[in-house]
Amino acid sequence: MERIPVAGPSITQREIDYVTDAVTNAWYGNANVYHARFESAFATYVDRKYAMALPSATSAIHLTLLALGVGAGDEVIIPDSTWIASAAPISYVGATPVFVDVDQATWCIRPDSFEAAITDRTKAVILVDLYGSMPEMDKILTIASARGIAVIEDAAEAVGSEYCGRPAGSFGEMSVFSFHGSKTLTTGEGGMFVTDRRDLFDRAQFLRDHGRVPGDVQFFNTEVAYKYKMSSMQAALGLAQLERIDELVQKKRDIFAMYRNAFADANGITLNAEPAGTKNSYWMITAVWDRAFGKSKNEVVLAMRDGGVDVRPFFHPLSSLPAYAGLPGAAAASRANHVSYDLSSRAVNLPSGFNVTADNVALIRDTLLRLLQL
Ligand SMILES: Cc1ncc(COP(=O)(O)O)c(C=O)c1O
Repeated sequence: MERIPVAGPSITQREIDYVTDAVTNAWYGNANVYHARFESAFATYVDRKYAMALPSATSAIHLTLLALGVGAGDEVIIPDSTWIASAAPISYVGATPVFVDVDQATWCIRPDSFEAAITDRTKAVILVDLYGSMPEMDKILTIASARGIAVIEDAAEAVGSEYCGRPAGSFGEMSVFSFHGSKTLTTGEGGMFVTDRRDLFDRAQFLRDHGRVPGDVQFFNTEVAYKYKMSSMQAALGLAQLERIDELVQKKRDIFAMYRNAFADANGITLNAEPAGTKNSYWMITAVWDRAFGKSKNEVVLAMRDGGVDVRPFFHPLSSLPAYAGLPGAAAASRANHVSYDLSSRAVNLPSGFNVTADNVALIRDTLLRLLQL
């Protein structure tokens, strides 16, 4: 039986040509040609002044916190429902993550949970555009600005999404993207840091190259820092993908439409939301089933896999992970963040790769409904 994978990219002759050109020609004086084109086109796409290509979104988030000067004694508020990569850099810089609850419909951070968690130690909030969905940006930005809190947008999963006509990646002081192989726009592994603030961009550029100013030819380091760079082959791949971005995002929306139609008559199953004023790029099509089915997430993941369908569990609340067992606030978060815990117990990501077919979707629906009703 052929398995249906959970994610995968769309690669055309354009990507192959650009990467071939990069591996052939992007050396010596041309070593940064593809980076420059990719960064400039990406900044334009997300309506930011500055963009920096990086090896991952994790490194991009690390740089956002370093650029803001977040460190020991500071708190950073973050939704409990996300991939650990959103939060891990908070620990890298010695600060404390504070996990707050998410919205029932968008699965993104709730403005009231964010506001309630603010203390005089709060330095920043990391918003996560989960699975392509958008949080209530206007309310969050208003609260953050009134309280003097820096906003970082983790748009790792949301290239192509919009909130009130503004692109994902254009909110807050800085935003980040991931170009991991599962993402809508991929460079295999990779990420992007974007901002409108020259000071933050300059600081991040300095820190990502072992603490030397861009263009330094003396190899003279004034701080111990990091090595976070993307190769020109990856930048070439990213540029080719970016030139197809409207097609890629539309294809994701078409895949979602196939699922929406397939599940139209399936009572008790909810898919990703797209509240008025937002555009969801549906990175991962996600199904949440009613509690009445009485099935756990783990049962569904294993049974779907047995049926040849690769699914992913909805993110475990970060406060529930052994990785954060030693964090003083984790136990309180686990009692408070009801929506994150409830969603996580009864939701999975369905196959959302570019190769998914209508026949696949029909089989996925039949398999899921059958096992939920067992
Ligand atoms: C919400 C979110 N943030 C951050 C990341 C980290 O991205 P990367 O794997 O490029 O470091 C991911 C990756 O999947 C993610 O989903």
